[in-house]
Amino acid sequence: MTQFNETELTEAVIASFDNTPNPRAKFLLQELVKSLHDYVSKTGLTFEEWEYAIDFLTRTGQKCSDTRQEFILLSDVLGVSMLVDAVNHRDRDGATETTVLGPFYVGEHKVMPHGTDISPNNLSGEKMFVQSRVTDLDGKPLANVPVDVWHADDDGLYDSQKPNYDAVGASARARFITDGDGRFFFRTILPCSYPIPTDGPVGEMIMQTRRHPMRPAHVHFLVNARGFEPLITHVFMDGDKYLDSDVVFGVKDDLVAKVEPRNDTAMPDGTKANGRWHLMSYEFHLKPGGGMAPKPLGVKAGEPA
Ligand SMILES: [Fe+2]
Repeated sequence: MTQFNETELTEAVIASFDNTPNPRAKFLLQELVKSLHDYVSKTGLTFEEWEYAIDFLTRTGQKCSDTRQEFILLSDVLGVSMLVDAVNHRDRDGATETTVLGPFYVGEHKVMPHGTDISPNNLSGEKMFVQSRVTDLDGKPLANVPVDVWHADDDGLYDSQKPNYDAVGASARARFITDGDGRFFFRTILPCSYPIPTDGPVGEMIMQTRRHPMRPAHVHFLVNARGFEPLITHVFMDGDKYLDSDVVFGVKDDLVAKVEPRNDTAMPDGTKANGRWHLMSYEFHLKPGGGMAPKPLGVKAGEPA
């Protein structure tokens, strides 16, 4: 029988993965053990704290469903999502900046014609017209590219967070296909800043640690062109008071767009405007490469999205 002191224990656990056939899996597991053991040793973790952590992670898993991902939220508020994003996008070469996927990419992205109002279900809020274009790094337009968009409404909620989601279906969520000039455009309402869900263990941690739960107003975009790196990003509204303190650390300067208030009687596609509306213009520049765009929640690996 072998008895280990603290240092020997860590070394023994690391060595226990020595025969892992996949070298990357072996590396990841051994580094994970090193970091976890280092954390326990450095903090002198008590049994009560260890039990609390186990319970916290258990509750985090129990809060997950087909339309809710509490673990992504946990990763987001700990800055892990943005760190993974950063180490995987070190050289942008002029490509549009990336940011977190967030926990509300749940699918239901039906292809809609350009100009569609994606917030037609009597959602309150001021109207916004979004006009955009997708190009490569040289500015050459990319045609037939699917672009998924989704955002929170004036209540600060995504459609999937609402109790009537199953009955009502998707809103403020759609897919557009770029035209021959790389363009797409749609109508919606102006998104507002919103709190991340605070009715689960992650929100509990945010409130108990006196952090605020707010994200600055934004629209999510997932641009997925063949032969290019999938672009997962947001466009933020300039002037939002939470731009400097996003609870998930997701803001980058290049992703902040000036959204102009307009009083013209018609929007750029000729749609009649009733009162004040807002114009968001933003171009996406893609970097050559490959890779898979993430699947929406509830879609298992191997199933079509
Ligand atoms: Fe969001």
